[in-house]
Amino acid sequence: MSFPVHRPRRLRRTEAIRRLVRETRLTPEAFIAPQFVCGGEGVRRDIASMPGCQQLSVDLLLEDCRDLAALGVGGVILFGLPDAKDPRGEAAADLGGPVARALRALRSADLGLSLWADVCLCEYTDHGHCGPLVRGADGRMDVDNDAALPLLSAAALAYAEAGADIVAPSDMMDGRVGAIRTALDGAGRSETIIVSYAAKYASAFYGPFREAADSAPAFGDRRSYQMDPANAAEALREVAADLEEGADLVMVKPALAYLDVVWRVKQRFGVPVAAYNVSGEYAMVRAAGARGWIDEPRIMTEMLLSIRRAGADLILTYFAREAARLLA
Ligand code: PBG
Repeated sequence: MSFPVHRPRRLRRTEAIRRLVRETRLTPEAFIAPQFVCGGEGVRRDIASMPGCQQLSVDLLLEDCRDLAALGVGGVILFGLPDAKDPRGEAAADLGGPVARALRALRSADLGLSLWADVCLCEYTDHGHCGPLVRGADGRMDVDNDAALPLLSAAALAYAEAGADIVAPSDMMDGRVGAIRTALDGAGRSETIIVSYAAKYASAFYGPFREAADSAPAFGDRRSYQMDPANAAEALREVAADLEEGADLVMVKPALAYLDVVWRVKQRFGVPVAAYNVSGEYAMVRAAGARGWIDEPRIMTEMLLSIRRAGADLILTYFAREAARLLA
């Protein structure tokens, strides 16, 4: 059928018509809000590079989460700012640490949010890498993959015990999903869900997060464990491996520069897929919006739609509250 019988503009004439044929919809339950939890009480510290985001102590976090729950947001993912760091990141598994305390408080408040705990060591190591370091045979310092596994498993188990529905390893060590699944099952936690950051790229888009979580590597970068931005077939192998090791849901991160990867993962595996709309993606929009260079709410909506349209079921996003408000 072709013009003049076929006139695609007929279906675009008014909002009443456009909404009838809309293929993708944003709903607040698809948004997962990242939160940065610190010690103390009554603490609310602005994160300069992420306007609108703060580091919160557990009491204020609870208030924020009540708002998010009332807006219908799907869940929160917690990142911790520990009081002390060491070379192995032992504090990640501290049952008295900020993340475990926040999980217990959120669990007993029973807000109807899914509770996610990011599992990584970079916020807890004094060198900022995602696992303990070892000098390789070639003399180079690098993260010791196999030594990281028990530390990550202990952290995941601590969060499960504190009340997490979901543990989300973001470290990119080989074999961590299997190690965490074994540790959880061995402790009678077979119901705890694992969301793996399966295709996580070594990205400059994480810049602002490293201020938010105080997790910048003291030397070097993360290219020996996070993926090369040039690769997509490798992402499919990472996802396949994590699913085989027991991941229930897989993540692609960052989101916007990797929508092709989101699409391929969804098409190939058909499993629930999350995409992480990361700190740099957020900061760019906020910065341009503050200067009046872009229409911020429309850009936000268009970006979130694009991530859903590419095939993501869930979006981890610092826009969660604002986007949910806009939809309400
Ligand atoms: C921890 C972790 C990072 C992010 C989520 N988990 C930082 C990194 O890998 O350097 C980034 C999130 C964001 O930029 O919003 N490994």
